Parts: sequence; C-alpha cells; structure tokens
Amino acid sequence: MKIFIDSADLAEIRDAAQMGVIDGVTTNPSLVAKTGKPMKETIAAICEIVDGPISAEVIAMDTDGILKEGRELAKMHKNIVVKVPLVADGLKAVKIFTAEGIKTNVTLCFSASQGLLAAKAGATYISPFVGRVDDISGEGMQLVEQLVTIYRNYDLATEVLAASIRHPLHVVQAAEIGAHVATIPLKVIHQLLKHPLTDAGLATFLADAKKIPAKA
Ligand code: E4P
Repeated sequence: MKIFIDSADLAEIRDAAQMGVIDGVTTNPSLVAKTGKPMKETIAAICEIVDGPISAEVIAMDTDGILKEGRELAKMHKNIVVKVPLVADGLKAVKIFTAEGIKTNVTLCFSASQGLLAAKAGATYISPFVGRVDDISGEGMQLVEQLVTIYRNYDLATEVLAASIRHPLHVVQAAEIGAHVATIPLKVIHQLLKHPLTDAGLATFLADAKKIPAKA
C-alpha cells in the first residue's frame, strides 16, 4: 500500500519525506488555510519536497470553473493530481480531465454508490473519508472494503485512497483490505512507528553498551 501524507505543512511533509515512508501528498482547503500561505505557493513548495502524486483541491463548484482551476493546477507540475468534489459537476469535469490526461482525486466519498460513479467517470483516485464516517457512528472501513471489492470485480482502474485516517488501526485495516493508498496525518505516521517494546529494548541495549569494556 502506498502512503501519502495528509498535510499542507511543509515542515511536516519534510519530516515524513526524510523518513522515506511517503509516496505522495494530499491537501485540502482546510489544511492549506492552516498554513496561512496562498494555495499555489504552498502546492509549488510541496512539489519541491516530494516526487510523487500531490493532490491539490479545486474550490469551484461548477464544471467550467473546476476545469479552469484544475487545468491551472495541473500546469504547475507534472505530479499534480486535481482534487475534485464528488458532485455531478465534479464528475463531468473528471471525465474531461481524464481525456486530457490530467489525474484526479475524487474527494468526499461517503458511499459505495458514489465511489462506483467516480470510477465510471475515470477518477484516478477515490477518497473514502473513513474517520468522518466513524464520527457519525458508521463503519468507515466497511466503505473502503466495498470500494476495493467493487473495483476489483470489474477491473476498474481507480485506486482506493483511504482518507480521513485517525489512528494506526485505520492504516493497518486499510492495508489488510487492499486499499491502494492511505493518506495519513504526520501524527499517525509517528504513532505507526512507536512501540513501547522498541523503546524499552533500546534503553536496555544502551545501558548494557556502557558496561562493555573499551579494551580487553
Ligand atoms: C484527504 O484527502 C482528506 O481531505 C482528509 O483525509 C480529511 O481528513 P479529516 O476528516 O481528518 O479532515
């Protein structure tokens, strides 16, 4: 499973990139707003840090507006993936982007039926929002499983990108199910790494290392 970092914060993206564990980046307007920097400046800087798919979201809600914004974003860098909302006008734009060779990430997916239509329209990625489904007492991971099954049943090329990941178990479950990608906040990437037995083992090794005589 590929791992993307879900962030627009350059320091966070650098941290994850230096560990060598990320294959790409997803952003959204809320994440970019947190940086306090303009959208294009932020996306351009991210493209300098990570050589992999970088999702940048359009703000327009109508097909013409989405196409205009998406084409401008796609022109910025070869790795840009245009993030498009899962509404009818968005799917119309996805169909055209696909014909133009522009990659898309269809976002805000909350049902298998939505995901099926996004794949039919030619989406490169579909983003089921696992954590937000869990937040309303649903089973977000079930949606990932449904999408993986449906796409596999019909050889649909769209990749399932598990999004709105809240904790390490989400990541492990997405990998077990066979999601193509999980986009993960930096905090969860660090949580994935942590294990108390690693820390305890390391402390013992370091303590014992001090007991080793320098000379025979
Ligand atoms: C990713 O593409 C989404 O924008 C993101 O994962 C949403 O996560 P949230 O539900 O934690 O805001």
